[in-house]
Amino acid sequence: MSENLVIIKNLHKIYDPEGANVHALRGINLTVKKGEMLAIMGPSGCGKTTLLNLLGGIDKPTKGTIIIDGVDITRLNDDDVTNFRRDRIGYIFQLFNLLDFLPVVENVALPLLLQGYTINSAYEEAKVVLRQMGLGDRVYHYPNQLSGGQAQRVAIARAIITNPAIILGDEPTGDLDTKTSMDIMNLFRRINIQNKQTLIIVTHSRAIAEQCDRIVHIENGVVSKEEIIRGD
Ligand SMILES: Nc1ncnc2c1ncn2[C@@H]1O[C@H](COP(=O)(O)OP(=O)(O)OP(=O)(O)O)[C@@H](O)[C@H]1O
Ligand SMILES: [Mg+2]
Repeated sequence: MSENLVIIKNLHKIYDPEGANVHALRGINLTVKKGEMLAIMGPSGCGKTTLLNLLGGIDKPTKGTIIIDGVDITRLNDDDVTNFRRDRIGYIFQLFNLLDFLPVVENVALPLLLQGYTINSAYEEAKVVLRQMGLGDRVYHYPNQLSGGQAQRVAIARAIITNPAIILGDEPTGDLDTKTSMDIMNLFRRINIQNKQTLIIVTHSRAIAEQCDRIVHIENGVVSKEEIIRGD
């Protein structure tokens, strides 16, 4: 049995407790194994992005713990959580979050520059990853000169370039056609096998979810069902 990389216990998130008081997560319990590819499904508003943001250290829970590789990230201070995210987590946002004023190569190289790489070596690495993604001829384009599928691949390249232990993808194939979506899932599977990286992917597509090892369903801020797709 492989080890648990992520252990989530009784996770709650209440947005704006003084005002609107939206109880987005209501006690999530979930473990994810090292090297697992996990899909998260559930209706709009059930808490998927909230959960990913907490896992990525982008937001703090109201209650509960998230242990990643032995570290309780809910107890880290802001600087430590930023460093943890920079070094260990790759995040593909629901709306890509590319920087429009930077060329593709710099968008992808940015996480390496933040880790202290020189510009030359960061750009070289970025070009290698972009070539693997079929974007070798788009390196000096700007994000607004790309198609949706190309922009999505740039966002993925940026998330994987530091070789993070965990890749979090918030609908990384949303809005893409079936073939491009499957290409991206194949790419995820390849890096999952090659680098033993753990992937957690939010999707509304059953076909995409079935490319993963397990599907966790969320409803109203709790895990409502789990399905094993592939055993290990
Ligand atoms: N910053 C915020 N302030 C207040 N409420 C929020 C905030 N972000 C999300 N919510 C609420 O929390 C609930 C969960 O939102 P979340 O974005 O996690 O849903 P989701 O499952 O990702 O939905 P979708 O599939 O539409 O992306 C929703 O009811 C949403 O309105
Ligand atoms: Mg969402």
